Amino acid sequence: MDGALPAPPQSPKGYEPIVQELKDKIHFSGWSGRFNEAITTAHQSGIVEMQSTKTLQDYLGFINSLLRWVPSESWQGKDIYNDLCKFYFVFDQASVKDLQSPIQPEDKEDKLTWISDWLVRYAIEMGKFLDTPESITEKSLASFKNSPSYNMDDYIEPRGGWRTFNELFARNFKPGYRPIAAIADQSVIVSPADSTFDGQWEIRADSGVTIKNMHWKISELLDGSPYKDRFTNGIFMHAFLGPNDYHRQHAPVGGVVVEARVIPGQVYLEVIPDDDNTGLKLHRKFFDAPDNAGYQFSQARGLVVLDTKIGLVAVLPIGMAQVSSVILSVEKGTTLRKGEELSYFQFGGSDIILVFEARSNNAKRAAIDNFIATESPIALQGVLNNIGANGAKVPGAASGVVVASPSKSNPDYFYSWTRDSALTFKMLVDTSIAGNFGLQSEIENYISAQAKIQTVSNPSGGLSTGGLGEPKFGVNETAFTGPWGRPQRDGPALRATALIAYSRWLIANGYTSTVSPITWHIIQNDLAYVEQYWNKTGFDLWEEVDGSSFFTIAVQHRALVEGTCPANPAILLGSFWNGGSILANINDNNARSGEDANTLLGSIHTFDPAANCDDSTFQPCSAKALANHKVLTDSFRSIYAINSGIAEGTAIAVGRYPEDVYQGGNPWYINTLAAAELLYDALYQWNRLGSLTVTTTSLPFFRDFSPSITPGTYPSSSPAYTSLPQPSKPTPTATSPSSRTVARRAGQVPASWDASSANAVPKACAATSANAPYATATNTVFPTGQTSGSPACPTASSVAVTFNELESTTYGENVFVVGSVTQLGSWDPANTVPLQANGYSSAYPLWSVTVALPAGTTFQYKYLKKEVGGGVVWESDPNRQFTVPRSCATTTTENDVWR
Ligand code: NOJ
Repeated sequence: MDGALPAPPQSPKGYEPIVQELKDKIHFSGWSGRFNEAITTAHQSGIVEMQSTKTLQDYLGFINSLLRWVPSESWQGKDIYNDLCKFYFVFDQASVKDLQSPIQPEDKEDKLTWISDWLVRYAIEMGKFLDTPESITEKSLASFKNSPSYNMDDYIEPRGGWRTFNELFARNFKPGYRPIAAIADQSVIVSPADSTFDGQWEIRADSGVTIKNMHWKISELLDGSPYKDRFTNGIFMHAFLGPNDYHRQHAPVGGVVVEARVIPGQVYLEVIPDDDNTGLKLHRKFFDAPDNAGYQFSQARGLVVLDTKIGLVAVLPIGMAQVSSVILSVEKGTTLRKGEELSYFQFGGSDIILVFEARSNNAKRAAIDNFIATESPIALQGVLNNIGANGAKVPGAASGVVVASPSKSNPDYFYSWTRDSALTFKMLVDTSIAGNFGLQSEIENYISAQAKIQTVSNPSGGLSTGGLGEPKFGVNETAFTGPWGRPQRDGPALRATALIAYSRWLIANGYTSTVSPITWHIIQNDLAYVEQYWNKTGFDLWEEVDGSSFFTIAVQHRALVEGTCPANPAILLGSFWNGGSILANINDNNARSGEDANTLLGSIHTFDPAANCDDSTFQPCSAKALANHKVLTDSFRSIYAINSGIAEGTAIAVGRYPEDVYQGGNPWYINTLAAAELLYDALYQWNRLGSLTVTTTSLPFFRDFSPSITPGTYPSSSPAYTSLPQPSKPTPTATSPSSRTVARRAGQVPASWDASSANAVPKACAATSANAPYATATNTVFPTGQTSGSPACPTASSVAVTFNELESTTYGENVFVVGSVTQLGSWDPANTVPLQANGYSSAYPLWSVTVALPAGTTFQYKYLKKEVGGGVVWESDPNRQFTVPRSCATTTTENDVWR
């Protein structure tokens, strides 16, 4: 080759100190036999470049000359590669391999062996020379310029030329030679280096990637990084560079550098003999350095962690073989645009690894979004197919009647359940309010059908004697008189909630005339039933257990908070918490564990987007709901074959309860989706609150995502928060199906039901049941025009907002409201707005004030009490928030309870 090695230097000992050290070590450790054998097997490999190396002395002479080596290239551009391979090929021979630190993940040790440590020190010595002006000559530079694979015309030659070989090695491209793709689109990730893509692997929940049957840990690759646990379920990518490539690395996506350091490690190169692939059939062998992914986990490497729009991205330029120097061009806090330089190699480098978080997976998200966009209309049509009188699957069902299933035998489900119907229509009401006004006539049909069904005398009773608790009816609105698990007391509450949601829309859009004679009576009957019977036992939602069911009590509580407040099932809600999870049923006589998807359904059907993470109402983001989510879902991991081998923290199929034997006991779609929906709801709530709190109760849940997380509050900018898998965030449009479902209906979040006040047990609510009047709905004629969804009145610009606050006060004490808008005093305690006690009684301690506010204004506020002596008592945090509705309604009421 052109770059022929110089003769060994004439030092007193004959060798450079680092080589002499190796020679002495071999001698005094009795390794001469091993090394002689390594030289022999390497020589006998048939590789051309090993032919001149027959003895240990030949080899030591070679590595000694390498320390003063002026690299140069032949026309083929393989000389440098071959010299590196020759150095390592001897160390890769079986007789000396076990003197080095193991590379395999399971055998790794903290401390390097003497030989591995020597290899690192040798590489450093070699690098020192390559940093000197003697490492480059006119002749050696010309050899690179003459070697086509180096593409030297693409690079800027500095004024005065490259002063050292390492400067040449890290040469810069001329501007414009590497344009950055999609510079403004952060969803397009660009290659960080001129390199050959080797592959990508999914990172498991245990941080592992399996590459060619070997398990490597991303947490080890990132060597103590505070972000090491963030990449579970993400993607690991490996690419490699050759000696002739451009050796600078660039940001694959724009972001802020949150960590930048060099991790010391081994220097290593796997070299094996390979057959002649020139096609000349020369019967000679050549060096092959296969560069598989894996041993980069222990090599010297750079680590740059970028905080980007697609989550954290770890970029690891890997030092390989000689020198293995990675020089970082950035430091913590640097903001990089896509394509800006973040590091470069000195001679020897190079592999490149990228590690992405799970949430960066645009392709997966796009696939889900596409699926949902296609599937949503199909699913909606499927629902409508089961509603009379025009549902394709249910001929014979009366108008507005939801049929559980078209199946008429084994099982015969051709009936209409009050629960199923209410949950179905709550979804249709939310979808209609979100813009699909074509559903309004179905909703009107449902209301008319329920007005009739409420009056049908049945085995549970008549309208005012318990008949509303009857679980199911014939599809032609007749009573079902066969034996059944009755009563089921969730139905009236769910129906009230569905109709309240619709009535609010009607009122806000000028159709109060529909509410008064029609929907209000149906709602009032249902609320009367709940008030009267909430503390009586009944059958649970699975129609199996007779007792007090969490789902039933939770939805009853919600309905009463939404409607009126004479009774308060919240008093019972707390009894379902057993210290680690939510019991599905109490006051019952079954011997089951109590883990039951009943509890997930209870939380999602009482989800309030405006609520805090309240444990008392088991809001989705509450510590208790999350702890329960983990306990419950984990209880199904070992039960169903479909879940086998899926680690904790990863989604699985969810059944009703672990002891279920119905039809053999299987996962249920409704429960699997409820488990997912609860998490979407929690994310929605945290995103609104701007932080999440980990408590000792929810710690096991969070540890599945972030194994080292500790209790505390984490703002939305913190790594602990952003490491949570986030739903995709399309700009929500009211009718976008993908935003509805994937981003927890970002375009169709159900309305608040006041759960932010319901977490404190209202003092005005009785702990016992109450009797209320029942009345039949009289008028089921709906105004024409309602179905178009257009308001029947002009949009109001100012709304009279009534603030009702329940708080028992002592004589002389007064209640005020203060908030972030001028009308509420701009948080100035001197400008608070006084509430009046005109409606106050000891049974119902109501303080109230009405303030005119511009429609659409969102503001924060709080109540405070001023005491006789001048003392001021503020409500506890957090601030309350309210958005003045923009509709044709000119009044609205916000009901709060002191906290
Ligand atoms: C059985 C389910 O457990 C129950 O919740 C449902 O109401 C009925 N099937 C009818 O769909």
